[in-house]
Amino acid sequence: MIKHKNENNISQKIGRNFSKHAHTYDNHAQLQKLMAEKLASFLPSDTPEQILEIGCGTGLFTKYLLAKQAKKIFLNDISPGMIKHMRLKISLPPYSQIILGNAEILKFQMVDMIAANAVFQWFKNPRIVLGRLKTYIKENGSLVFSTFGPSTLAELRKVTPLESPALLLSKNEWCKLIQEAGFTVNLSTKESHKTFFPSTLSLLKNLQQIGSAPTQMTSPKILRQLINDYDDICFTKQGVYANWELLYFSAINKQ
Ligand SMILES: C[S@@+](CC[C@H](N)C(=O)[O-])C[C@H]1O[C@@H](n2cnc3c(N)ncnc32)[C@H](O)[C@@H]1O
Repeated sequence: MIKHKNENNISQKIGRNFSKHAHTYDNHAQLQKLMAEKLASFLPSDTPEQILEIGCGTGLFTKYLLAKQAKKIFLNDISPGMIKHMRLKISLPPYSQIILGNAEILKFQMVDMIAANAVFQWFKNPRIVLGRLKTYIKENGSLVFSTFGPSTLAELRKVTPLESPALLLSKNEWCKLIQEAGFTVNLSTKESHKTFFPSTLSLLKNLQQIGSAPTQMTSPKILRQLINDYDDICFTKQGVYANWELLYFSAINKQ
């Protein structure tokens, strides 16, 4: 029970961090935009009547869901700041409903599809969450999501003493968890992606501006060391690079 409370505290902290940087998120979330576009191609061609989006953030993926013209769309996020920015940007239809809170413990209504772009890496216990989410998806309904794999920022994690609460599972680990939760995986894809930044500092700032920087703060001395170490590994004529492993899944609830 205490563990559950602590886990909710960590999630609330993640939500606060996203709220703090919500105003800079859209300008810096290039990778999440790319993921949203690709994930949209995995959406079922028949429009699901009821959709739940988890971790909708500022709505980068929501716009693809709204284009489906479902009868009802529930938009969830743990961060009030991200939701606020989405509402400023997107004029939400009357059939939409915002659900603020931690998707790991919230109760939802039954839907035909649950979707999430670049969110599941923040779950503390994906096995339990997937089991719970299955109970909210109707028979033959879909679960469609993208997340980050273990090669994501591997070089940065090698040189940094900082810890991130993000959980980076491999494609096979996710497939196993999805199947154990009772879904049939009908599509799973892995993509490698490289992005370039003018400097290591600008990479770290980018992570901060999208609310994904390691939560623990560090001293200027450790930061300098980190920058030197990262430059040693990833500096090129084009700037410093960062590697990302992008994972996409589509699964069916076969009951
Ligand atoms: C990287 S952003 C992605 C936002 C959006 N899906 C997109 O495509 O840009 C991750 C989002 O997940 C939300 N989030 C993280 N943990 C969550 C949780 N346990 N429950 C609900 N939302 C969560 C964050 O607040 C943030 O808005």
